[in-house]
Amino acid sequence: MAEPIKVLVTGAAGQIAYSLLYNIAKGDVFGKDQPLILVLLDITPMMSVLEGVLMEIRDCALPLVREIIATDKEEEAFNCIDVAILVGSMPRREGMERKDLLQANAKIFKSQGNALDKFAKKTVKVLVVGNPANTNCLTAIKSAPSIPKENFSCLTRLDNNRARAQIAYKLGIPSNDVKNVIIWGNHSSTQYPDANHATVKVQGKEMSVSDAIKDDAWLKGDFISIVQQRGAAVIRARKLSSAMSAAKAISDHMKDIWFGTPEGEWVSMGVISNGNTYNIPNDLVYSFPVQIKNKTWSIVECLPINDFSCERMKATASELVEERDTAAEFLSSV
Ligand code: NAD
Ligand code: LMR
Repeated sequence: MAEPIKVLVTGAAGQIAYSLLYNIAKGDVFGKDQPLILVLLDITPMMSVLEGVLMEIRDCALPLVREIIATDKEEEAFNCIDVAILVGSMPRREGMERKDLLQANAKIFKSQGNALDKFAKKTVKVLVVGNPANTNCLTAIKSAPSIPKENFSCLTRLDNNRARAQIAYKLGIPSNDVKNVIIWGNHSSTQYPDANHATVKVQGKEMSVSDAIKDDAWLKGDFISIVQQRGAAVIRARKLSSAMSAAKAISDHMKDIWFGTPEGEWVSMGVISNGNTYNIPNDLVYSFPVQIKNKTWSIVECLPINDFSCERMKATASELVEERDTAAEFLSSV
């Protein structure tokens, strides 16, 4: 058996963590042979709830879980960790846009970036989930200068899964027969879900999504807006933000970082831009199509981009520039 890895989940008393911790603890993310030390961080008023979560994980009697640490102290939580899944923050309520959360949540990611810098292993893989996820991820990167920027990513896999599921539903096929849909940009209503490069398998035959669906108006209209607005629709219906589907997406994202993406396939995640790819400005955490090998992502380059896509990719980049500047201004005064 391998040595245990130390996996931190923040916001561990919250609703996403309640599904996520079980996925991790039973081996769905890091593998069925990988022992785990689970570290649960939440804020002081949530410590008794966190104690209950700890009891429940223990009561699952899962063989991979070797130790569980529940704490409200960042220096303890981030100490020598191999993986950080940063969920803890305030979720959006009905009527709010994700960027409304900027002020509420930016400070958390500055402080946790500092803690990563001081206490985590330099090889730590960091996934930011708390919204606005892209800009919070950038804040964490900037607050952890000793950790390579490439070790950080933010979650747009939920949007990616939503897009695949919409196409699968429309065609009446299983979602694993839909490949290479892209989410460009921000995890917000300006994101651009793009099916131009995606393929589907219908009755055993691989073909482009547009050939299979034969409904360009849907692909340029409802498909995009349903995916862009799905988070708000779930909040309206549940009076709570998505949690089960978010936990599944986090598990998919981290599993791909750990084990890599299949040959010829890509997934979307928010990663640092270098200014050279698809004309996206540098110094943004922007969702791109990536392939992953040896726990390292690389952007899928040189895909042909039509004018319709180009316009939408730029619009979501502009929103990220605005968010970055607002966060910088806000954090400089705290
Ligand atoms: P929740 O309110 O149920 O849980 C959040 C938890 O974080 C709470 O227990 C809270 O006490 C804790 N917390 C707050 N500040 C903290 C801090 N400084 N350190 C540690 N823990 C802290 O919320 P949730 O539904 O689990 O959602 C969590 C976040 O994930 C929200 O920001 C939500 O918008 C975001 N989210 C992102 C995606 C995505 O795709 N990127 C999807 C769904 C939700
Ligand atoms: C989602 O996409 O479901 C989450 O980011 C919650 C939200 O605020 O939309």
